[in-house]
Amino acid sequence: MGLKKEGGMVLADCLDELSQQFEAADLFYGHGTDNAWDEAVYLVFSALGLAFDEDDSIMSRPVTRGELERIQALAKRRTDERLPVAYLVGEAWFAGLPFKVDSRVLIPRSPLAELIVEQFAGLVPAEPHKILDLCTGSGCIGIACAVAFPDARVDLADISEDALTLARENVLWHEVEERVRVIQADLFDGLGNAYDLIVTNPPYVSREEVDDLPEEYRHEPELGLVSNDDGLEIPLRILREAPQHLSEDGVLIMEVGYSWQALAARLPKVPFLWLEFANGGEGVCMLTARQLREAGSHLI
Ligand SMILES: C[S@@+](CC[C@H](N)C(=O)[O-])C[C@H]1O[C@@H](n2cnc3c(N)ncnc32)[C@H](O)[C@@H]1O
Repeated sequence: MGLKKEGGMVLADCLDELSQQFEAADLFYGHGTDNAWDEAVYLVFSALGLAFDEDDSIMSRPVTRGELERIQALAKRRTDERLPVAYLVGEAWFAGLPFKVDSRVLIPRSPLAELIVEQFAGLVPAEPHKILDLCTGSGCIGIACAVAFPDARVDLADISEDALTLARENVLWHEVEERVRVIQADLFDGLGNAYDLIVTNPPYVSREEVDDLPEEYRHEPELGLVSNDDGLEIPLRILREAPQHLSEDGVLIMEVGYSWQALAARLPKVPFLWLEFANGGEGVCMLTARQLREAGSHLI
């Protein structure tokens, strides 16, 4: 195990060898990359503190013996322990922004990033002034919303105090603390009302499915993944409780991933709009406050 060439190595050699090593180890990719080469770039660039948008000349940059040892140590943990790179380097990218991550939070990867970068174009009737990121984890969704809407006030809520401790660090890192609050809550308990936009990526995986996930997912907090009732318990609670917390023209955008078919089948009379993504991803629905209020009895 490990990179063989130690003398005169440049970045391109290092990435070649590392990606071959990852291929041979049959890793699972799903925490920010989807192939061995990108995974190697993510690890090496993060470990060496290089910007991902460097031009191609960076490929001939020499890699010192000390740097190589650091990379080898991280690569060994990636292959032996199946630790996702984001946890190894303590950082993940979401909506073009870096976030601190560790095993207290799920690694940011939601397709919601695409909607945030596009400022929810065509989905919200006007610029939202009050936004809630429910089940915030690292705070990535809410903080990215605060950056996308510089006049908005954003609440980040989660049941996990551990996750919120890290979310607070990310709020400070992005210097949005004057507009962003961090709140501990079991879903909507004790939260305010009249949010123009509620965005949420809640747990939606059934216990049986979690047990079948690749080893990489076992490093993530179970609280971030598992939802009872075939994954639907928490999404259903959100649909029932959201109307009391939305403004008149408010909008709920919720990710339920591959549980979307089960949710749509459970609630056939609810007019979900299932969104499409240019960059991949599925299972994100949108409902207006009005639709949720009208759906009332069908949400039981
Ligand atoms: C799928 S993770 C999403 C994290 C983050 N929003 C993201 O997209 O990376 C779900 C989050 O929901 C939180 N959570 C689980 N049950 C909850 C509950 N009853 N109320 C509030 N948050 C909850 C977990 O602690 C976890 O941080």
